[in-house]
Amino acid sequence: MDIEQVKERAGPREFSPKDDLPEKYRKAATRMIQFHANSEIMGAYLERPFIREAPSLDRKLAFSAKVQDEIGHGQLLYRAAESLGIKSREQMLDELAEGEGKFLNCFHYPLDSWVETPMIAFFVDGAAMRRQATLKQSSWEPYAHAMDKVCFEEGFHVKHGEAILYELMTGSKAEQEKTQEAFETWWPRIIQFFGPTDDKSTHHDFSADVGLKTMTNDELRNAFLNAYIPKAEKYGLEIPDEPRIRENGDGTYEVEEDDLNWDEFFTIAKNDSPGSHEQIGKRSRTQEAVEWVRNSMDDWETKSAGASPQAAD
Ligand SMILES: [Fe+2]
Ligand SMILES: [Fe+2]
Repeated sequence: MDIEQVKERAGPREFSPKDDLPEKYRKAATRMIQFHANSEIMGAYLERPFIREAPSLDRKLAFSAKVQDEIGHGQLLYRAAESLGIKSREQMLDELAEGEGKFLNCFHYPLDSWVETPMIAFFVDGAAMRRQATLKQSSWEPYAHAMDKVCFEEGFHVKHGEAILYELMTGSKAEQEKTQEAFETWWPRIIQFFGPTDDKSTHHDFSADVGLKTMTNDELRNAFLNAYIPKAEKYGLEIPDEPRIRENGDGTYEVEEDDLNWDEFFTIAKNDSPGSHEQIGKRSRTQEAVEWVRNSMDDWETKSAGASPQAAD
């Protein structure tokens, strides 16, 4: 198939490893899915400390389950990316540890306190769900298929985040104020989650033409604002004055995109902010610390493959 044939055929779950696809498609899909897989892993790193630091056993259990889910999403997505035949899972994990792998802007910032946890679990996961639901229609079947499981679990993550937000916003005055402060810090980053505005987005046109994605950054951002501004207000959060938000008079919202700090966003996109170095450092150290596990698994696989067909299974 050449690119023109791909564009003609492109539709939900249209292509799978049995298709002979041009390298341009396979590279674009790899870039997109690898970014997504990396983001799942790096998000889990931010939340992992709260398995210990959450204030009750129930919350610890919920964080433990969520972190396991996110790592699982990452692994599933590395496999979906690997099936394009461009990069192996090992290569993608190495690229992440070496600071070459790119990941979502929100996961380049530290998550320091309990009041910040719903900013990820409720708002960022809510934003992720918006995007991921549309990716069930992606043209790369293994990716779209993975989204069935991922979206199902994200639904639980958002409920978990919402329960913490509710608890904090019906708690003491100090809790409410600190949660509002955390919201003001995270709000612009969450709005930038969807990436640059359409005319600055370099990858959209091709990805849309070959059916890898079905909605633009701006369409997704607006859909998120329309759903989450009312939710934030319902829990008593005040929407900050900056960036300016326009209410269109019909219950829909739009953001003044020039009010957002795009220089910071693009520095982060190059893995070049102090936060990027800190988060990638954590990942590299863990990758190194568990190398012996990977090596012994590889040894075991090699040995058992030689022993008998049953053992190789
Ligand atoms: Fe996830
Ligand atoms: Fe999640």
